Amino acid sequence: MAATPIAVVTGASSGIGAATARQLAAAGYRVVLTARRKDRIEALAAEINEAGHQATAYALDVTDRTAVDEFATAFRSLAVLVNNAGGALGADPVATGDPADWRQMYETNVIGTLNVTQALLPALTESGDGTIVILSSTAGLSTYEGGGGYVAAKHGEHVLAETLRLEIVGTPVRVIEVAPGMVRTEEFATTRFRGDTEKAAKVYAGVDAPLTADDVADTITWAVTRPSHVNIDLLVVRPRAQASNTKVHRTA
Ligand SMILES: NC(=O)c1ccc[n+]([C@@H]2O[C@H](COP(=O)([O-])OP(=O)(O)OC[C@H]3O[C@@H](n4cnc5c(N)ncnc54)[C@H](OP(=O)(O)O)[C@@H]3O)[C@@H](O)[C@H]2O)c1
Repeated sequence: MAATPIAVVTGASSGIGAATARQLAAAGYRVVLTARRKDRIEALAAEINEAGHQATAYALDVTDRTAVDEFATAFRSLAVLVNNAGGALGADPVATGDPADWRQMYETNVIGTLNVTQALLPALTESGDGTIVILSSTAGLSTYEGGGGYVAAKHGEHVLAETLRLEIVGTPVRVIEVAPGMVRTEEFATTRFRGDTEKAAKVYAGVDAPLTADDVADTITWAVTRPSHVNIDLLVVRPRAQASNTKVHRTA
């Protein structure tokens, strides 16, 4: 009997990562949930196991290269890596943005993705049929006022995906980039505005049905479960009410 394929999901403690872990588990993968908040990924792993699927939890900060390398030693062969850990800090203009925020966003979104991808690439290759997903954003494709350091970091992730795809062509590993627009997750905007829930709520005010974490997880799961020779290079997914980063229809 063939072994159950393994999928590693970073940032699986909330939002898109948690939803993706649930959906990949339901699609037949043994999911390995990682994030810094151990209690949350352990609770989610228990929920997935109780539902009759397979999950384990491993506390990991993707910016800690030593810890990432240690984590990677557990995998000789790996089917899927979903680089989802990331996020935004602040919405200040370039003129006044805090360099520490820019640095942290670059560290988490770009270096975090680089760390985990480099560490697990041998196992993905060894599987003979590996898939790397990079969760960038429409912020990785065009800018908006106040996007600043987040836009810069997500452009970095986009370039990482494109460059890696060029460099590993001919190996049995594909690189899929999923770039969502506005997704209403429980923590993304609250983290961006440092706990200011009023400011966070304004992001979605009057928008008829922003995307949900499940919508993006569904997109990721679809892309990952295409036949091996089919590479969804870049998938942009937005809510119907959003035509671009700056053109959003609001009813109020
Ligand atoms: N929401 C949106 O509108 C939207 C749109 C486009 C793209 N995205 C991207 O989609 C991804 C998920 O976003 P989301 O909306 O689901 O946000 P979220 O709910 O805030 O989730 C972010 C996840 O990243 C993890 N994380 C953050 N820093 C980490 C680190 N240093 N090491 C390991 N894990 C870390 C967090 O877990 P811990 O805190 O437990 O470590 C959390 O699980 C992000 O890359 C985000 O930029 C979001």
